Amino acid sequence: LNRIAVFASGQGSNFAALAEAQKAGKLGSGSIELLVSDKPESGAAQRAVEAGIPTLLLRPKDFASRELYEAEIVAELQRRDIGLIVLAGYMRLITPVLLTPYAERIINIHPSLLPAFAGIDAIGQALNYGVKLTGVTVHYVDGGMDTGPVIAQRTVAVEDNDTAETLAERIHQVEHGLYADVVAAFADGRIELVGRKTIIREK
Ligand code: GAR
Repeated sequence: LNRIAVFASGQGSNFAALAEAQKAGKLGSGSIELLVSDKPESGAAQRAVEAGIPTLLLRPKDFASRELYEAEIVAELQRRDIGLIVLAGYMRLITPVLLTPYAERIINIHPSLLPAFAGIDAIGQALNYGVKLTGVTVHYVDGGMDTGPVIAQRTVAVEDNDTAETLAERIHQVEHGLYADVVAAFADGRIELVGRKTIIREK
């Protein structure tokens, strides 16, 4: 479980935070071996190149199907003996081609307290709804949209004068710390899944 591939489509701040955590010795036995992106021009891809982390940059539209796109990814993951997939702003649903060989070994971070505000623009959804508390969820990935078992959650208070930008900034701060802790626990085999419930053992 210690050889990790991070998947990202966006600016890559969570990916960068995980890479920093590893450098600082805070990722347990976890080692980021690969950055996979469906957006070769993304900030995440750029950051990986700068950090000297190998990249797999594939455009889904260059493939005849989602399944063929993912089959290419699985082949590369197996070549590199990847044990854990960490989604960090990877904005695509995953098919059984990837889910089956990596069952219970794919995790995601989402910027709300699931099951509230699944899907895209969770921060905007929370602001529009008018909730006073939102937060961050790390969860197992299944075939649904943000539906897998919850591993960890943290709350973030919504302030009266918050904009999407100010709230996103505080949520990102919480994400970066929480994700490193959960990835470390996962890499060290300290997460147990019983039905839909997870238990994280302390070090
Ligand atoms: C993060 O806030 C992550 O929680 C969210 O995308 C952002 C990526 O930021 N993911 C989702 O909304 C997944 N449904 P980053 O590229 O700076 O890490």
